[in-house]
Amino acid sequence: MHRLLGVSMTVVFALAGCTLPRNNEELASGQVIFETKCVICHGTTGHGDGPLSDTVKPRPPDLSKQGTQQKGDTELKTILSKTETGPMSVWNGTFSDDELRALIAYIRSLN
Ligand code: HEC
Repeated sequence: MHRLLGVSMTVVFALAGCTLPRNNEELASGQVIFETKCVICHGTTGHGDGPLSDTVKPRPPDLSKQGTQQKGDTELKTILSKTETGPMSVWNGTFSDDELRALIAYIRSLN
């Protein structure tokens, strides 16, 4: 079990290493936005277990799961910038293109 974890961590770091440094900056700013605006519902690791998750309907989805990770960047961008009903509608028009890219990079890192 530990060995397996070690191997997958190595793969994660190797993949992250290939895309430095621009991606690193993007990830860092995505994390800042996520921690200030998203964690309250989606939880620190995106698992949908933030402090408000029990009170929000529908329940915030687990962003680390395939259901979200399989969505393309354009679809995620639309959810984060043009959703008109439900809890995610509060972000409609909030984020700049750079912020959207950063948030999406961060969501991908929750995989
Ligand atoms: C008030 C609670 C709340 C906050 C805050 C919130 N979300 Fe959500 N989010 C939800 C709920 C509930 C859904 C699912 C329902 C829906 O799609 O309207 C959702 C859906 C999503 C989805 C689509 C997931 C999928 O697979 O369909 C993404 C991506 C997402 N949120 C990202 C974010 C990001 C990034 C932030 C911070 C900018 C954020 N959310 C802030 C409650 C929240």
